[in-house]
Amino acid sequence: TRTHRIASIPGDGIGPEVVDVARSAVDLLAQQEGFGIDWIDFDWGSEFYRRYGRMMPESGLDELAETDAIFFGAVGAPDISDAVTLWGLLIPIRREFGQYVNLRPAKHVDGLAGPLKNPDGIDLIIVRENSEGEYSELGGRFGRGTPQEFASQDAVFSRHGIERITTYAAHLARKRSGRITSVTKSNGIIHSMTFWDEVVNEIAAEHDDLTWRSVLVDAMSAELVLKPQSHDVIVCSNLFGDILSDLASATIGSLGLAASGNINPERTAPSMFESVHGSAPDIAGQGIANPLAQVSSAAMMLDHLGEQSAAKRLNDAVDSMLRSGQVTQDLGGSLDTKGAEEALLAVLSQ
Ligand code: NAD
Ligand code: IPM
Ligand code: MN
Repeated sequence: TRTHRIASIPGDGIGPEVVDVARSAVDLLAQQEGFGIDWIDFDWGSEFYRRYGRMMPESGLDELAETDAIFFGAVGAPDISDAVTLWGLLIPIRREFGQYVNLRPAKHVDGLAGPLKNPDGIDLIIVRENSEGEYSELGGRFGRGTPQEFASQDAVFSRHGIERITTYAAHLARKRSGRITSVTKSNGIIHSMTFWDEVVNEIAAEHDDLTWRSVLVDAMSAELVLKPQSHDVIVCSNLFGDILSDLASATIGSLGLAASGNINPERTAPSMFESVHGSAPDIAGQGIANPLAQVSSAAMMLDHLGEQSAAKRLNDAVDSMLRSGQVTQDLGGSLDTKGAEEALLAVLSQ
C-alpha cells in the first residue's frame, strides 16, 4: 500500500490539542481507505526553546525536507517574544520550502449561525502571497536607547513574486467561478502597491477570460462583512492576506474553522498545512478549542497528497457536524474538544 510520511509539529498552546484530533481522523480514514500514514513526531516549539535555546534543531529543515508534507499546529507563548518563535520555526519553513502560496478558504455551511445576517453562499478563497512583501527581512531597530530610536521594515515586492502568486490565483479562479479580486492599496500612498497593481494587470491581460477586480484593502474589509458573496478568489500580499483571512473566518462563524495550506506548487519541497489561528493562550489547556480548523487543514493535506476520496469524506464530515449543530463553544455549541473528536469519528464511522 502507498504510505505518506508526514512531519507532525503540534507546537504550543492549543496546537497539540487540535492536532491530536485531526490525527485520529486521518488515521481512521487511512485505515478505511487502505493507505498508510507514517507520522514523524517533532517536539519543536516554545518548550523546546526553553530547553535548548532554539525553536528547532540546526538540522530541523533537513529532517523536514525528507517528508511528504508537514502538519503544523501553532506556535507562540506569552513568555517568549513572537519574533523568536515565529522567525525560529514557522517562517523559515514557509520560505525555505518555497511555500509561496498560502491558501485560506472560507465557506459557509447551511444551518451554522454566525455574526452576519445573511451568510448564505459565502464561498471564497484567499490566495495569500507567502514569501515576501511586508514580511521582509530588510530593516531593524536603530538608535537604540536614544530619543531618536526607530524601527523600520521595508516591504519587498519582486516582479517574480507578484507574477507567480497572481498566475497561481488565475489558474485557481478558472477552476472555480472565474471571478478574481486583487487586494491593493495603490491610491498613491504605498509605492510597492502601485507596482503590485502594474504586475497584476499584466498577468490579468494574459488571462482575460477571467473577471478581474481590484479593490482597496480598506474597502475590501467592509465588503467582506457587507457582501462576502461577491468574492471568490482573492489574491493579496502577505500582510493583507493575514488580516483578511481572520476576517473571512469570522464571516463563517469562527477562527476555529479556518484551514490553510502553505503550498509549494512545483512540489520541489514539502508543503505545510496548519490552522489559520494561533496558539490561543487564553483557552489553552482547557480542552475547549475547536479542532475543526485543524481537521479541515488535514483535509487540504490529504487532497494535496492525492487522497481525494479521504479528503472529501473528511470535509463532508466537518460539514455534517456543522449542519447538525454538533459544535464547540466558539460557535455557540456545548461540545468540548474531546466531544468534537468523538462526534467527528462517529460521523466518519457511519
Ligand atoms: P489566536 O488565533 O491564537 O487567538 C485569537 C482568538 O481566537 C483567541 O480569543 C482564541 O481563544 C480564539 N481562538 C483561536 N483558535 C481557536 C479555536 N480553535 N477554538 C476556539 N477559539 C479559538 O491569536 P492571538 O491570540 O492573537 O495569538 C496567540 C499566539 O499565537 C501569538 O503568540 C501569535 O504570534 C501566535 N500565532 C501563531 C500562528 C501560527 O502558528 N500559525 C498564527 C497566529 C498567531
Ligand atoms: C498566520 C499567522 C502568522 C502570519 C504569524 C504567526 C507570523 O498570523 O499564519 O496567519 O502572520 O503569517
Ligand atoms: Mn494570522
